Amino acid sequence: TPTVAPVVVAIDGPAGSGKSSVSKAVARRLGYGFLDTGAAYRALAWLALDRGADTESAASVVALLDDFDYSIGTDPDGYSVRVGEDDVTEAIREPRVAAVVSAVARVPEVRAHLVAMFRSIAAAVDRPGIVIEGRDITTIVAPDAPVRILLTADETVRMARRSAELTDLAADSVGRALAERDRADARVVDFLNAADGVTTVDSTHLDFNRTVDAVITVIEEAST
Ligand code: DC
Repeated sequence: TPTVAPVVVAIDGPAGSGKSSVSKAVARRLGYGFLDTGAAYRALAWLALDRGADTESAASVVALLDDFDYSIGTDPDGYSVRVGEDDVTEAIREPRVAAVVSAVARVPEVRAHLVAMFRSIAAAVDRPGIVIEGRDITTIVAPDAPVRILLTADETVRMARRSAELTDLAADSVGRALAERDRADARVVDFLNAADGVTTVDSTHLDFNRTVDAVITVIEEAST
């Protein structure tokens, strides 16, 4: 049987842009797979912490790649993240992981390794397409994707959405941590400005469903 390469929808954006939940909903609507690439950077950061590696040392982080036995599902309705035998789906969301993930993600060998991994995961998806979200999907992972979107929102709105369920004090520190992580991450890959040919969807004044609709519209326009 001939194999047809899955259609890739590439979505980049900063933390708190809603890119993960929007991408999932878009994948669900289209019957596509979904790949959260940030999860892999987080899983490697988790492994570094688990091994007691020095996350500030590029050499120590690169040394972990040899036995970084990573797997992630591509079902938008629920995917688990594993490193070897460990299910790290929940653990990678912990603040201690978020605190060191930028240091891990700025190492060029790490990025090259993970980019290759994302491409093979996407190629193997058993659906007509896959929505891939991250920071460098439109530019590095899938620059030839037929649909490339930068999902943005004003910083104050992003902070508010991220911390909606927290107390004021916690929300304030989460907001600061998030803004700091974005600044660190943006020095490595520019996800704050749309590259050539990338369509910006600004969700500042859109609720969740309208943001999903806006993304679907971009996809429909690209395929006509
Ligand atoms: O989207 P997220 O918050 O789960 O991403 C976690 C970290 O991984 C984030 O600080 C930046 C990094 N990242 C990256 O450098 N490139 C990607 N494609 C995705 C995430």
